[in-house]
Amino acid sequence: MKAISIQNLTVDYGGQVLAVDDLSLEIPSGQFLAVVGPSGCGKTTLLNLLTGLVPLEKGKIDIGGRRPTAGDPSVGYTLARDSLFPWRTALENVCYGMELRGVPKAEREARAHDVLKQVGLDGFANHFPKALSHGMRQRCALARTFCLDSEVLLMDEPFGALDAQTKIQLEDLLLQMWERTRRTVVFITHDLSEAVALADRVLVMSARPGRIVADMMINLPRPRHVRALQSDPTFLSLYGQVWEQLERGIEMSGGAAGEH
Ligand SMILES: Nc1ncnc2c1ncn2[C@@H]1O[C@H](COP(=O)(O)OP(=O)(O)OP(=O)(O)O)[C@@H](O)[C@H]1O
Ligand SMILES: [Mg+2]
Repeated sequence: MKAISIQNLTVDYGGQVLAVDDLSLEIPSGQFLAVVGPSGCGKTTLLNLLTGLVPLEKGKIDIGGRRPTAGDPSVGYTLARDSLFPWRTALENVCYGMELRGVPKAEREARAHDVLKQVGLDGFANHFPKALSHGMRQRCALARTFCLDSEVLLMDEPFGALDAQTKIQLEDLLLQMWERTRRTVVFITHDLSEAVALADRVLVMSARPGRIVADMMINLPRPRHVRALQSDPTFLSLYGQVWEQLERGIEMSGGAAGEH
């Protein structure tokens, strides 16, 4: 697995908006890092820089010894919005990334069927996204990301717009999949409970410009089960601490949570 190193990252969108201010961060190989912070604090900006889709202007990012490059097969990502192609079936959507990487057809379809089964969509391989519910579409997107076998996974609020029950199911699924492979993960979320339940480490950012307010290790034992954690005293205490840090970050920035 690959480690990620971020040094003195500053993003000011052409001098217009200071989104990220001098952020430095080391993410060891195989760590599951969650990043939380108020809306507009630069979380998606950070992720876009890690994917290589947005060029780096100030600072340095190193992923396993390389600069971020769009299309790097060792980096996979899942975005918040529904990112499936409407003209492709669930199976074809899951196969898409593997197609780009030149995986032979028989192999990619076998792998896609296997992962679709893991996310509970084995009967829906030939359905188009319009015939799937929102939760099913996000499961399909998750299957597509997991099929890539990327050493680094970048996820921007992948479960943000789901009902509570589906969300817990998918969080548990992600935990199971991750615990088998232990990839390096950067997981962005607004949901503090989700961050603590999934991650090894939670980074709390201040309101814009994004700075690190707290860097907390989550030493809850694994394997974890999201529902069971919700009544676990250690989990509840960590959750309370993350909340306090988030509030501190908002106060430090002059109470501007959510302001753009
Ligand atoms: N392409 C862009 N051009 C100019 N400014 C931008 C651009 N993208 C984002 N910004 C600004 O950068 C700041 C950070 O945006 P970003 O999307 O990274 O926040 P975020 O933490 O992901 O927020 P949310 O939690 O709402 O998703 C915001 O103030 C936003 O207005
Ligand atoms: Mg965002």
